[in-house]
Formats: sequence, C-alpha cells, structure tokens
Amino acid sequence: MAIDPIALRNALGQYATGVAIVTTLDGAGRPTGLTVNSFASVSLDPPLVLWSLAANSSCQAAFEACSHFAVNVLTADQVALANRFATNGIDKFAGVAWMPGLGGAPLLAGAGAVFECRSEARHAGGDHTIFIGRVERFAHDEAHPLIFHAGRYCARAELPPIAVKH
Ligand SMILES: Cc1cc2nc3c(=O)[nH]c(=O)nc-3n(C[C@H](O)[C@H](O)[C@H](O)COP(=O)(O)O)c2cc1C
Repeated sequence: MAIDPIALRNALGQYATGVAIVTTLDGAGRPTGLTVNSFASVSLDPPLVLWSLAANSSCQAAFEACSHFAVNVLTADQVALANRFATNGIDKFAGVAWMPGLGGAPLLAGAGAVFECRSEARHAGGDHTIFIGRVERFAHDEAHPLIFHAGRYCARAELPPIAVKH
C-alpha cells in the first residue's frame, strides 16, 4: 500500500515532542546548527542520545565531520530562536549569545537543558542520517519546555501535571 508522506507527517505530528537546537563547529570553526524535534534518549548506561538530520540540510557536512555536538533543549520563551534555527540560508548565530562547550560545540544561553555529546555513530535512515551521541556533560533547569505538536509550538502546558504510575 502506498504511503502518502503528507498524511504520514500529519499522523506523526500527534506524537508531541520537545524542541532542541543541535550545534557544532564546521570545518572552518564556524558555529553551525539547526532546530530539531527528532532528539530522543537511547540509553542511560552508557549514556546515549540520538537525533536525525535531513540529507538536504546545509549542516550535513559539519555534523558528519565533527567530534562533538551539543543538544540545546529549548524553553517555552525560545520560539523565535527555534524559528531562526529552522531557517535555511541565514546567519543563524547572528546576535545569539553562546559559549563554546566540549569540542567547541556552541552552548546557547537560556536553554532549558544541554547535553554535550561526543559523536559516537551515524546510521543511514532513509532521507535522514541518525546521529548517536555519547553524553559527556549535561546541565538542566526547571524552565517550561517548548513543545511541538501537530505542526505547531505549544508554549505552555495547559493542564496540571499528572504523576506517572510505574
Ligand atoms: C519544530 C521543528 C523540528 C524540526 N526537526 C528537524 C529534525 O529533527 N531534523 C532535521 O533535519 N530538520 C528538522 N527541522 C527542520 C530544520 O530545522 C531546517 O530544515 C533547517 O534548519 C534548515 O536549514 P539548514 O539547511 O541550514 O539545515 C525541524 C524544524 C522545526 C521547525
């Protein structure tokens, strides 16, 4: 049965995610990065995470070659930053406050969490490349996360939190 990619994307959009900006340095030492919602935890021991990068991204060469990348998890007040880092062909870092982390990967000011990763493995995944990172350092605070659902950002959780029963 043929799968309609637009219908598939709409169905996948029911799976709400956070939003992150993954950063690294390119071969010339310039900061590079993009907005993603494909970030996910993989393993606690060893500490591994993953995200996937579209084959047509201008960031592809930089992430293929880098030793480290940083995953900057965005907060509810960082919608403008999310949109900026989802725009091709602009200087994404212009006016953005950051400092170099492990391997020089940019750590963005105000992120709700940051995972500094050694780039451990790459896997082909259709029109994307899956990157596995080994977390070497991390930090977080208790800020409201930016949430992505059904193709839109949700800047506030509207319902009170409900405890998970294990
Ligand atoms: C909420 C959101 C999530 C995204 N998730 C991903 C992703 O997981 N992987 C990806 O390659 N692109 C993702 N994108 C698209 C990239 O951010 C965008 O195509 C990219 O920044 C374009 O610039 P580039 O060619 O310089 O990479 C996402 C965009 C948005 C707005």
